[in-house]
Amino acid sequence: MSLCQAVVTCASLLVVVCVSVNDGMPEPKQRELLMRQEASRQTGGHVTLTAAERQLDARLQRLKQREMSAARFPPSIHFFKAKPLIQKSSVFKLLQQMPKGAALHIHSSALVSVEWLVKNATYRPHCHVCFTWDNSVRFLFSERPPFLRWDCFHWQLLEKLRATTKDLSAFDNRLMQHLTLFTDDPDSEYPDQDAVWQKFENAFIAAAGLVCHAPVLRDYYYKGLEELHQDNIMYLELRSGVSKTYELDGTVHDKIWTLRMFQDVVEKFKADHPDFLGARVIISVHRALSVSEVKDAIRETIQLQRDFPDVVAGFDLVGREDAGRTLWSFREALSLPVDMGVTLPYFFHAGETDDEGTDVDQNLLDALLFNTTRIGHGFALAHHPLAKELSRKHDVAVEVCPISNQVLKLVSDLRNHPAAVLMSEGHPLVISSDDPSLFGTTGLSYDFYQAFVGIGGLKANLATLKELALNSIRYSSLPAHLKDTACAAWQRKWDVFIAENS
Ligand SMILES: *[C@@H]1O[C@H](CO)[C@@H](O)[C@H](O)[C@H]1NC(C)=O
Ligand SMILES: *[C@@H]1O[C@H](CO)[C@@H](O)[C@H](O)[C@H]1NC(C)=O
Ligand SMILES: [Zn+2]
Repeated sequence: MSLCQAVVTCASLLVVVCVSVNDGMPEPKQRELLMRQEASRQTGGHVTLTAAERQLDARLQRLKQREMSAARFPPSIHFFKAKPLIQKSSVFKLLQQMPKGAALHIHSSALVSVEWLVKNATYRPHCHVCFTWDNSVRFLFSERPPFLRWDCFHWQLLEKLRATTKDLSAFDNRLMQHLTLFTDDPDSEYPDQDAVWQKFENAFIAAAGLVCHAPVLRDYYYKGLEELHQDNIMYLELRSGVSKTYELDGTVHDKIWTLRMFQDVVEKFKADHPDFLGARVIISVHRALSVSEVKDAIRETIQLQRDFPDVVAGFDLVGREDAGRTLWSFREALSLPVDMGVTLPYFFHAGETDDEGTDVDQNLLDALLFNTTRIGHGFALAHHPLAKELSRKHDVAVEVCPISNQVLKLVSDLRNHPAAVLMSEGHPLVISSDDPSLFGTTGLSYDFYQAFVGIGGLKANLATLKELALNSIRYSSLPAHLKDTACAAWQRKWDVFIAENS
C-alpha cells in the first residue's frame, strides 16, 4: 500500500468524525464503519474467509477468549514458565497442525533440540569434553587426546567419564543445561541482558564442537529439517557461517564442502518427504569481525552465490547488536557488491534493541539504505516512523521472533511487544523462532502462539494466521515461479487443515 492511500484514509476519517459529533451522540452505524475500517488495516484485514474458515475462526476465538481469562495467561509470563501451559492449550494444538509455510529466521547452531545433541551426538565414539573455568563446556571429536587450549586444560573422553558416573541422567541433564538457556528459574539466573547474552554466546560456543563435526552436522541438518517438517513447515532459510566443519583426524573442510553437504542433505530429505520444498542458507558472520574481514566474507559470499545459486540466499551479520559494531561502521564492506556491479541480497538483523537513540538504534535505517531484503527482529521499528514507512513502501518484511525477544529481555509481557503496532497496521511481517534449541522450542508453533494470542490479542483471527503463513512464502528469497509452486502447495495443505478442523 502506498503512503498516499494512507493519507487519503486519514482525511476521510476526519470528515466522518466531524459529521457525527454534530448530533451529540455518535452515529452507531458510523462507529461500526470506523471499527470495520480499522480492522481492515490489520494483518489479514483484507483476507476473505470461506464459510468453513469462518467456523474454525469462531472456534479459535472462543478458545482464545477462555485462555485470556485464565488466571495465568501464558504470553504475560516468561516463556520458560509458560511452556507447560502452552503445551496444554487447545489453540496451540491447532497451531501445531496448521501449515505455517516457511521458517525464515533460524540460526544453524540452534536448530536442533539439545536433547538430541546430548543423547545422540555426545554418545558417539571419540567425543571429548572439557569443563572450562568460566562454567561452560567444550566438545571435540578426535582420535587422539585433544591439545590443550587457553580455555581448556583438561579434556576427558566422554565414554570413560560416563563409565565412572553413577547418575547418568543427571550428568546428561547437566550437559544439556550448558547448551540451552532453558531453566526453571530464568529471573534469578538471568538478572539482566548482559547475563543472558553471556550464557547465550557461551552456549553457541559449546554447541559448536558438536555441531561442526562433519558426521554429526550431516545428521543434525537432517534432524533439524525433520523437526520443522513435523511442525508443518515446508521451507527453511537458515542463517549459518558454514565454516570449520571438521573430521576426526582434524581435517577442516571449506565452505564449498559444507554447502555441498547441506545441499545433499536437503535433497535427501526432500526425496524422503516429497511435501518439503527445500532449504537455503543466508551466510552470516559475526559483527565482532573487522571491516576487512567482513569485506573478505562478502567477496566470498558473492562467489559462493555464483557457485550455489539455489542454496545461497544472501548475507547477514550476527551477534548482539547492542555490544557489537553498527552496520554503518561496516559501510565500506557492505557497499562492495554495488561497487563491483553485482547483486548480493542482504538479510540484516536490525533494531534488536531497547536503547532508543543510540548508534545501534540507527541500524534499522542503515539496513534499509543498504537495500536489505528483510529485517531481522526490527524490534525498534515502531519507534522509527521513517524507517517504518520505507520498510512498508519497499515491502521489506520484518522477521518477528517473539520468544527470543522475551528471553533476551527486550520485553517481558508479550502483550506489550511492539509488533502489536505493526500487526494492527498490516505491516509486512513474518513470524520466526531465531534460536529454537536455546529457548526450548521446536518449529514455529510456540512463536505463532505468542504472536496470535499475546501480540495480536482478540483482534488477531484466522485471516491473520493465513496472511502470516502466506507472508513467509511471499517474503522468502525463492524466485517467483517457486513461490507460486510453494503457495499452491501450501493452499492444498491449508484446505485439508480447514476441512479437518472446522
Ligand atoms: C544418532 O542419530 C542417527 C541418525 O539420526 C542414528 O543413525 C544413530 O544411530 C544415532 N546414534 C545414537 C548414539 O543414538
Ligand atoms: C539500493 O538500491 C538503490 C535503488 O535501486 C540503488 O540506487 C543503490 O545503489 C542500492 N544501494 C545499495 C548499497 O545496494
Ligand atoms: Zn537472529
